[in-house]
Amino acid sequence: MVPVLALLPAVIALLGAAIVIPWDKTLNTEPFPRNTTATENCGPIDDLQYSRRTVYFPSKGLQLEGWLYLPKGIEGRPPIVVLAHGIAGQKDMGLHPFAEVFAQRGMAALVFDYRNFGGSEGEPRNWVSPKRHLEDWDSALDYVRSTLGAEVDVRRIGLWGTSFAGGHVLVTAAKEGSNISAVISQVPHLSGIEASKKSLKNRGIPQSVRLFLAGLHDRARVLVGLPAAYLKVAGPPGSNSFMELPDEDMHLYLAKHPEHYMGGWQNRILARLANELSRYNPIHYVPEVKAPVLLVATTQDALCPIAVARRAAELNSNVQLLEKDVGHFDVYLGDLFEEVSVAQARFLVEKLGAIVPVHEPAEALPLL
Ligand SMILES: *[C@@H]1O[C@H](CO)[C@@H](O)[C@H](O)[C@H]1NC(C)=O
Ligand SMILES: *[C@@H]1O[C@H](CO)[C@@H](O)[C@H](O)[C@H]1NC(C)=O
Repeated sequence: MVPVLALLPAVIALLGAAIVIPWDKTLNTEPFPRNTTATENCGPIDDLQYSRRTVYFPSKGLQLEGWLYLPKGIEGRPPIVVLAHGIAGQKDMGLHPFAEVFAQRGMAALVFDYRNFGGSEGEPRNWVSPKRHLEDWDSALDYVRSTLGAEVDVRRIGLWGTSFAGGHVLVTAAKEGSNISAVISQVPHLSGIEASKKSLKNRGIPQSVRLFLAGLHDRARVLVGLPAAYLKVAGPPGSNSFMELPDEDMHLYLAKHPEHYMGGWQNRILARLANELSRYNPIHYVPEVKAPVLLVATTQDALCPIAVARRAAELNSNVQLLEKDVGHFDVYLGDLFEEVSVAQARFLVEKLGAIVPVHEPAEALPLL
């Protein structure tokens, strides 16, 4: 008992120092209000091949927002694929095209925003937390099963996650056992330990310590009731951002973003994540996954190393590995998107037993 008490002044002094010392200009403590004004890309869609409407469901007392896609031209209830984004991502950052491809091939899709992101409730904004995100995945599945039974076949559920969520879907599938029928894990974050090693190598020790201290600073501020501290999600090398990207990758990262962000998103993320990342290792769950998995990995991935994806694929014979000879951010647009999304749709159609509707060809444009 005495040693604990003896440590108390030291702990208080450290806490005080972590809050007071204004040592890092890369920290941002400006207010970050949620913007609930609708953006041009967030409304319902009534396409010839599918419909999309906005839905809401609870997660730990807050309301999450999702887009529900229902395919047209099929008989009976379709299977459903649940999708969510990676680090600080939200559904208006390039997830619509994937859901659309699945809906065109006879599958329903639910794309949702985590708490504190996009159209979902929760403040402070842009709080990335493996624990909270996994709870939100569970909430999304509860919602599908408890509410969507009249419109979709809730016995045939697929999970789709990209980057950070590529790990979440594997952890979730491991918990769900045979209640999940298929998983797509795209350019997945599988190992916090490997990611931290790589980050340490790229940043060097002083910059890595700086990142870790930023996380402590954020936590210390919250403990004493001050507004949270943020770092950039993505920035150039040396900027103390969570993802330090060369110009070319930064360009690709932003290319899938809308002109106006849902919820008033900004390029920042609560710094506390810096103290959590190394402890989050979804690869440990891979052996327990019962559902068939398509793991899409990129050989030039600077954030989620291909070697870890290959190792994960060897841990479980249910995992099929699809490698593409490109970088982490190449799969959202252009030819790579076409290739990857169609391969994923084919996998899901097979594993979820979807019936692909035959759509009337669009009317040919008159020749001028
Ligand atoms: C809130 O979002 C809307 C839609 O994108 C935008 O027009 C408006 O300027 C934003 N308001 C603030 C205060 O940023
Ligand atoms: C799978 O679903 C069944 C029926 O809803 C439920 O009883 C069971 O607990 C679920 N299994 C897991 C691992 O969640």
